[in-house]
Amino acid sequence: MKKLLLSVLPLMALYGCQPDTPAQPLKSSPATAGAGTDDVAMRALAQKNLCLTCHTLDNTLVGPAWRKVATKYRGQKDAETRLVDKVAKGGTGVWGAMVMPPNAPRVSEEDIRTLVRYTLSLQ
Ligand code: HEC
Repeated sequence: MKKLLLSVLPLMALYGCQPDTPAQPLKSSPATAGAGTDDVAMRALAQKNLCLTCHTLDNTLVGPAWRKVATKYRGQKDAETRLVDKVAKGGTGVWGAMVMPPNAPRVSEEDIRTLVRYTLSLQ
């Protein structure tokens, strides 16, 4: 057992650690810290569709913070369907007096659904 470990260790050092080294600077860069690829792609989609002119993930801007939206609807089965409809048609009165204008057809239903799923998946 000891022998096996001793012969495996140098291999781990060779193959296990080295490929990591070039990736280090990327991992610690503030732009990607804590954000998976999905997260980056979703934010880009939200940016492209102008959602981020009124929303952020963490703070109320014109519209509610998306993490708060996720908390409010957590565990509600029909939340996705209802919110896709709401984002498409716009509306007011759930979070205050501010109005969300209709986002469809400027934003495709597919993109709206993707963004609503992303919003609801936030912790
Ligand atoms: C012009 C500003 C504006 C834009 C652009 C905007 N929103 Fe909103 N959003 C709001 C406001 C204001 C509310 C709160 C509406 C309410 O209180 O009923 C809201 C609410 C929401 C909610 C919660 C709805 C509810 O009934 O709880 C979701 C989800 C949402 N927005 C997603 C999006 C997505 C996705 C986009 C981009 C496709 C987007 N918003 C674009 C202003 C905006």
